[in-house]
Amino acid sequence: MMADMSDEKTGPDLTVDIAGVPLANPLMTASGTCGYAQEYADFVDLKQLGAFVTKSITLRPRRGNDYPRVVETRAGMLNAIGLANVGLDIFLEEKIPQLRSLALPVFVNIAGTTIADYVAVAEALDEVDVVRGVELNISCPNVKEGGIQFGVDPRQIENITSAVRKACRNNKLIVKLSPNVSDIAVSARAAVEWGAEALSLINTFTAMAIDPETRRAVLSNGTGGLSGPAIRPIAVYMVRRVYTEVARDADVPIIAMGGIQFARDALEFLLAGATGLAVGTSLFVDPACLVKIRDGIGEYLARHGLSRVQDIIGAMED
Ligand SMILES: Cc1cc2nc3c(=O)[nH]c(=O)nc-3n(C[C@H](O)[C@H](O)[C@H](O)COP(=O)(O)O)c2cc1C
Repeated sequence: MMADMSDEKTGPDLTVDIAGVPLANPLMTASGTCGYAQEYADFVDLKQLGAFVTKSITLRPRRGNDYPRVVETRAGMLNAIGLANVGLDIFLEEKIPQLRSLALPVFVNIAGTTIADYVAVAEALDEVDVVRGVELNISCPNVKEGGIQFGVDPRQIENITSAVRKACRNNKLIVKLSPNVSDIAVSARAAVEWGAEALSLINTFTAMAIDPETRRAVLSNGTGGLSGPAIRPIAVYMVRRVYTEVARDADVPIIAMGGIQFARDALEFLLAGATGLAVGTSLFVDPACLVKIRDGIGEYLARHGLSRVQDIIGAMED
């Protein structure tokens, strides 16, 4: 039977393409803030998103840091979860079937403390149908190189990107950049040169909160990562810089994140040069904001007589 097209809701075209993976719209979850999807199933219809991004998966299960490992700050939050996750085997066995039921492209964020660990996880994921990309969390200490984070040294970004790239025969390789550097364009260039097919930015800023009564750090780990609306203008700047210095000419899409809460925030990132938009901390306030943001982008496009979201990517006036 022919579908009655007159009933179909028409509106601007929100589809985007992340390195050859077509998404119904640019919205996705930010790693670590929406678990493995089931956790949020009662609060938001995740099928409305463009893609789902999992929390970081490591080769072996990790219990993470001791509590407290999250603290609210003004306009943001600090977390030091310590990569708590079920590990690769349980992820494949128990979480992949749940993710498959979403019928969305899944990007799996992977983490580790040696390059060999990252490669092993990426290799295992390369055979999984529902997984379309691997997002490399390089904000982890490299235990073999003195515990310095992979993501703050361009040479280490080169080493890890080139090694994991070889393990991604089917999956797209997305490298997630750390903002804890003096020039994020240098990191972006290293990642793209060595095989990143998309970039995501930004991860959290290293930060600290102190309780004046106890004179101790609030987080058991001492430091944590700052996220949420407090970091958004810095993230917008970094996306613009990476877009103009590296991504635009290399034709590498950017997935932007950092304090997105409303459609207006998302529009700033699109105009700065982002193709994808991930939402993290704001999900703790309103899980449904993902769908509201998507609809708000559509309303903006309609109001401006634009038919495609792709037409505003990078379109800010200089
Ligand atoms: C509680 C929490 C857990 C996170 N876990 C991860 C993680 O496992 N892997 C990762 O790459 N980023 C992780 N992030 C960083 C987010 O994916 C995102 O890059 C950052 O929070 C900025 O986006 P936002 O301001 O929308 O939260 C985490 C952030 C939060 C708040």
